[in-house]
Amino acid sequence: MISKRLEDAINAQINAELWSAYLYLSMGMNFEAKGMPGTANWFRIQFKEEQDHATILMNYLNSRGGRVVLKPIEGVETEWATALDAFKDTLKHEKVVTGLINDLYFLSEEERDPATRSMLQWFVDEQVEEEETAQQFIDKYVMIGDNGYGLYEMDKELATRTYSAPAPLTKGE
Ligand code: FEO
Repeated sequence: MISKRLEDAINAQINAELWSAYLYLSMGMNFEAKGMPGTANWFRIQFKEEQDHATILMNYLNSRGGRVVLKPIEGVETEWATALDAFKDTLKHEKVVTGLINDLYFLSEEERDPATRSMLQWFVDEQVEEEETAQQFIDKYVMIGDNGYGLYEMDKELATRTYSAPAPLTKGE
């Protein structure tokens, strides 16, 4: 069994992950509309990954005898003029998510729940990667500026991203 405080906090994190998914789907649709299919592909995969993050938390809560309760998802922006703008928003958003994951991690310690703390370690590590990736794209786009060929090449690079399920969802396969 899991404590009520942790159950509520994990439900809040499930909501935050689905909110993240919604944001990246919105970015994907924005770049589809702007004729940037590679950039759209990158964000559509990000959308899937965020759904996976929610699924990991839902599976975990179920396995601990908790009750998943889905709440309304907060609205998201719908317009980004450039990929640089979208990656800047991505970094800002992921920093917020990192704060939420850290709070949840510290709550699991406060509640003396090592299983939850152990489950959350994957998310702690994942957030380091998420922030680093967004920062790397920001750096590249700043370097490229408004060079048309550079932007075209970046769209091609983002088209090569492929989806693979995260480790916590493939355990035992
Ligand atoms: Fe689920 Fe991008 O953090």
